[in-house]
Amino acid sequence: MESEIAIEYKNVTKRFAGNQYDSVKNVSLRVEAGTIVTILGTSGSGKTTLLKLTNRIYDLTSGDIEYYGQSISALPVNEYRRKLGYVIQQAGLFPHWTVAENIATIPQMLRWPKDKIRERVLELMQMVELDPDTYYSRYPRQLSGGQQQRVGIARALAAKPSVMLMDEPFGAIDALTRENLQNALIKLQRDIHNTILFVTHDVQEAFKLAHKVIVMDKGEIQQYDTPYNIISAPANDFVRKLVSTGDFYDKFRVLTVTNLIEAASAEEIRTGPRISDQTFLNDALGEFLRRGGEYLIVETEDGKIRGKISYNKIRQLACNGVSK
Ligand SMILES: Nc1ncnc2c1ncn2[C@@H]1O[C@H](COP(=O)(O)OP(=O)(O)O)[C@@H](O)[C@H]1O
Ligand SMILES: [Mg+2]
Repeated sequence: MESEIAIEYKNVTKRFAGNQYDSVKNVSLRVEAGTIVTILGTSGSGKTTLLKLTNRIYDLTSGDIEYYGQSISALPVNEYRRKLGYVIQQAGLFPHWTVAENIATIPQMLRWPKDKIRERVLELMQMVELDPDTYYSRYPRQLSGGQQQRVGIARALAAKPSVMLMDEPFGAIDALTRENLQNALIKLQRDIHNTILFVTHDVQEAFKLAHKVIVMDKGEIQQYDTPYNIISAPANDFVRKLVSTGDFYDKFRVLTVTNLIEAASAEEIRTGPRISDQTFLNDALGEFLRRGGEYLIVETEDGKIRGKISYNKIRQLACNGVSK
């Protein structure tokens, strides 16, 4: 299936009044519908500006942004914003509203019927894994940071936006909770196939979540590619340093076998041991070490064959994937 383009940036530049430099400089790229794209860069690299240009909080200095092929400047701004969900670091919940009321903000505004709103709130709470029996009528201050962020995500998803813009949503959250939220987001996106643009300065998070990563520095795109391609072939010194810094993750814990799939023969498919396409590379390596053998057959959750993964490929990545 040809993939649809949800958002396209065409030579997008933003210079704030009074600045001598471009905060976003000549950015051109396409975001495929139904994928998670992370925007990775250090503080001040222009990540937030790029998101705020996308939801029209800021106007472009030059260039254009298209939403499903239409220039966003030509769309009525409120109508356009309703197609987007926006989640920021501090969930920004209304303190005097319950969880349910917070999640229902947009449906209320759109005057959905009461029972439809309630149904949607319950559905969303399941989606973000907050038990309605416990949390429906709680207030934000009665929730942990991670739970508040779940409510923020549910609220942003309420009116079924096709694109979610998330600006360091897990930035202020402890490591363990953060990992849970990342996993919940991955699962949720797999279920509803929405498009997510996710800003982070955390390399591990960027690579773990993304189908594709935008690496930014000084307002410019340094590389835009899959995690695997970025790790195995950094485009320049900046990217190379970024993916080999001290706080960088163990790549085997964030890349899945999906990144290394090759075509398998009918014979291989018939006889080969199976492994899920969600398996992280370190677990796949474990399988190889346990079983021996040269390859494993990769299948989806519902048993569709995607190809094979070979021991050699994993070894290659281990040996020369990231140059220090
Ligand atoms: N409203 C603004 N007015 C002037 N300069 C700004 C404004 N917002 C951001 N900038 C500047 O643009 C650059 C990029 O900022 P930002 O997009 O917030 O970076 P990031 O989100 O990657 O940390 C920074 O140098 C910042 O100081
Ligand atoms: Mg920012």
